[in-house]
Amino acid sequence: MVCLGNICRSPLAEGLLREKLDPTRFEVDSTGTGSWHVGNAPDPRSVAVARKNGLDISMLRGRQFSHQDFIDFDHIYVMDSSNLSNVLDLAQNDQEAQKVSMILDTIFPGEKVDVPDPYYGGDDGFDRVYDMLDQACDVISSQLS
Ligand code: 4NP
Repeated sequence: MVCLGNICRSPLAEGLLREKLDPTRFEVDSTGTGSWHVGNAPDPRSVAVARKNGLDISMLRGRQFSHQDFIDFDHIYVMDSSNLSNVLDLAQNDQEAQKVSMILDTIFPGEKVDVPDPYYGGDDGFDRVYDMLDQACDVISSQLS
């Protein structure tokens, strides 16, 4: 799961998908394309919306996306089109590039819909992002399981 800061959207996506998959068969992680929040806990607003929905993401820490992620993971879900171009810039071949998709393609196929960045907005933005990611992760878990 990849966003820009790895403190708002992708930690929510990581927590949601991990909860929906069998931990003995799947590894789920999240990263950001930027480095500002490496080592940081998720944004308190993401922690709060997750907690409200029964999910604890407070132990996650920020990490920056690197080429190694193409080697370590089979599927790379990005939150928006800017994450998509930043991640694809680091792909070294078609096989790596084909691992990458926009996460909302799962519920709006082919429409290239972004998960809006809630960082600069109000708390309701985090509720909306949580609901979108919950629906997307339901589809991903049924596709992978
Ligand atoms: P995220 O949100 O990409 O969903 O984690 C952001 C968090 C921090 C910043 C930008 C986006 N920032 O510029 O610090």
